[in-house]
Amino acid sequence: MRQPAEHWNRVYQTKDTEQLSWFQADPTPSLRAISLCGPRSLSVIDIGGGASRLAGALVDQRRQDITVLDISQRALTLARVRLGADGQRVAWIARDITMWQPHRLWDIWHDRAVFHFLTEACDRQAYIQALSAAVPRGGHVILACFAPDGPKTCSGLPVQRYAPKDLQAELGQGFDLLHSWSEPHVTPAGDMQAFTWSVFDRV
Ligand SMILES: C[S@@+](CC[C@H](N)C(=O)[O-])C[C@H]1O[C@@H](n2cnc3c(N)ncnc32)[C@H](O)[C@@H]1O
Repeated sequence: MRQPAEHWNRVYQTKDTEQLSWFQADPTPSLRAISLCGPRSLSVIDIGGGASRLAGALVDQRRQDITVLDISQRALTLARVRLGADGQRVAWIARDITMWQPHRLWDIWHDRAVFHFLTEACDRQAYIQALSAAVPRGGHVILACFAPDGPKTCSGLPVQRYAPKDLQAELGQGFDLLHSWSEPHVTPAGDMQAFTWSVFDRV
C-alpha cells in the first residue's frame, strides 16, 4: 500500500528528524555506494531523500549536479533550510516517484529506504519506468532496502524486504548487479535494522 504525501508531511511535521528511525548523522553508506559509481563530476539524484544529510555531504564534495526528489514538501524544506545558502546548489523536486516523468537524465540514481515501501506491483512498475527514463546506459542505480531479515514495517507502513537477487529480478534485463553488501543500521532508539545495498549498472 502506498501512502499519500499527507502521511509523510505529517511525519516530518510532528517528529524531530533526528529521532526518525532512518536518521543517520553521517551518510557514509550512501557516500561509499556513490563513490563506486565513478568520479565526482557525475550527476546524482536522491530519490526519497527526505531530510537526509546526503545532499549536504554531496555539496561538501564539491559536486555540481545534485537533485533530491521526495513526496514530502515539508521534508525538502527542512533539508533545504538546514543547508542555508548551499541549499541553492541542489535542485529540489516535490513529487511522488510513482507519478513522476523525468525531464532530464542523471548518471547516478540513489534510493535509501524508499523502493521497499512500494508493495503494489503497479507502483514498482511506475518507479522502474521513471528510473529507466532517468538513467542512461552506463549510468548507475543504488538501492538500499530492508534485507530479508530486516523489519516488516517502517513509519507504520508495511514494507517489502529484498535480497540483491530479488532487486535484480525487479529491475529486469537492462540492469546488471555490480556490488552488494549488508549494513546493520542502528536507529536513534538503538534498534538494529538489517539493510541490503545493491549497486547496478544500466546496460
Ligand atoms: C524511510 S525515509 C528515507 C529518507 C532518506 N532516503 C534517508 O535515507 O534518510 C523514506 C522517504 O521516502 C519518501 N517517500 C515515500 N514514498 C515516496 C514516493 N512515493 N515518492 C517519493 N518519495 C517518497 C518519504 O517522504 C521519506 O522521506
